[in-house]
Amino acid sequence: MFTNRQLFLQYLGQTSPSPLMLEIERAEGVYMYGPSGEKYLDLISGVSVSNTGHCHPKVVSAVRKQAETYMHLMVYGEIIQAPQVKYAEYLSKFLPENLGCCYFVNSGSEATEGALKLARRFTGRSKIISFRNSYHGSTFGALSVQGSEQFRGAFRPLLPDSFQALFNDSDSLNLIDDKTACVIIEPVQGEAGIIFPENGFLELVREKCTETKSLLIFDEIQTGFGRLGHMFAIDRFRVIPDILLLAKALGGGMPLGAFISSPEIMSSLMSDPPLGHITTFGGHPVCCAAGLASMKVLTEENLADNCPAKSILFRQNLKHDLILEIRGEGLLLAVELAGPEYVSYVIAKAPEYGLVLDYFLFCNSSFRIAPPLTISNKEILWACGQLTRLLDDSKKNVIKK
Ligand SMILES: Cc1ncc(COP(=O)(O)O)c(C=O)c1O
Repeated sequence: MFTNRQLFLQYLGQTSPSPLMLEIERAEGVYMYGPSGEKYLDLISGVSVSNTGHCHPKVVSAVRKQAETYMHLMVYGEIIQAPQVKYAEYLSKFLPENLGCCYFVNSGSEATEGALKLARRFTGRSKIISFRNSYHGSTFGALSVQGSEQFRGAFRPLLPDSFQALFNDSDSLNLIDDKTACVIIEPVQGEAGIIFPENGFLELVREKCTETKSLLIFDEIQTGFGRLGHMFAIDRFRVIPDILLLAKALGGGMPLGAFISSPEIMSSLMSDPPLGHITTFGGHPVCCAAGLASMKVLTEENLADNCPAKSILFRQNLKHDLILEIRGEGLLLAVELAGPEYVSYVIAKAPEYGLVLDYFLFCNSSFRIAPPLTISNKEILWACGQLTRLLDDSKKNVIKK
């Protein structure tokens, strides 16, 4: 009889030579549990997915109810399904007026693909601008606008007519011109190690897009659903895009993505040719039911509003001479250490300290802290104590290169 560990290595496609290999039997709230009762405090939420915690009873109940009512009926866009329309309506209450038309897909990458196609179709232009160190997904279109040559170079040729500007560099916005279909940007760069826009950068991007009639796409796949202490980064920065991308926490733990725009822009996928973007499972009713229940929990439990105080608690209690800086707001934090070797050690050893941590894709000198927003003050204090002990351990045992 093979162990799950052996089956994992033998039968699953792997993404790296050194997977974390933590076996989890169940998860509840902010905790994940191993097969022998090991208990881990989840400090990453499956990368900003489980904002309302694992298996929130209201989300589980919505999933159960919908699974017993109907699951898949028909490809997206043909049949009226209550979970889809109710969720789209609820989302619109939290978004600016021009973002009232929602196209559901299955993932963040697919939301990116749909939005890029929509922008090209609506403007009749082909040029796409993205930013160095951005991450928008792993499919070909998304990879083409991803900002790391290390990750995309091996897959060339990529989508033509796509160019990269520098985040927080106003000069490089000259790339945006009247041939530009769209500019895609994360309002806060996540995988770059939580980089905030400075000196009105988002406002400048907005102005340049308006001036050139290019569409502005905000990728809020990681910043959405309360993570920054606001429901969306749009509320934090008060800059309104033409298209919004959502995924991750959108599904409350189930796979769901969306690109959202105005009915006028969205309608360009409807004709010449019709079926401009189609998906079998996009907006799956069980995923929409889960997402809607989770978003209602976010608002009922004031999870976004409580985020800033929790952020401060982390910052006040995470002091160590290996920590050079803590970047971020709300519960989207990057802890910058004295070198990448400390980061690797801390992440690999975290389970021994009862914690789950993770890397950023493009910043090897920081680890992320992005727990479920339901984390309590007591749990934060415990996590900070464990992290301090873990940093002491790494100071003693890491040999700095
Ligand atoms: C900002 C951002 N955009 C897009 C994606 C891609 O989402 P998915 O992995 O669901 O395709 C991610 C995933 O990490 C992300 O952080």
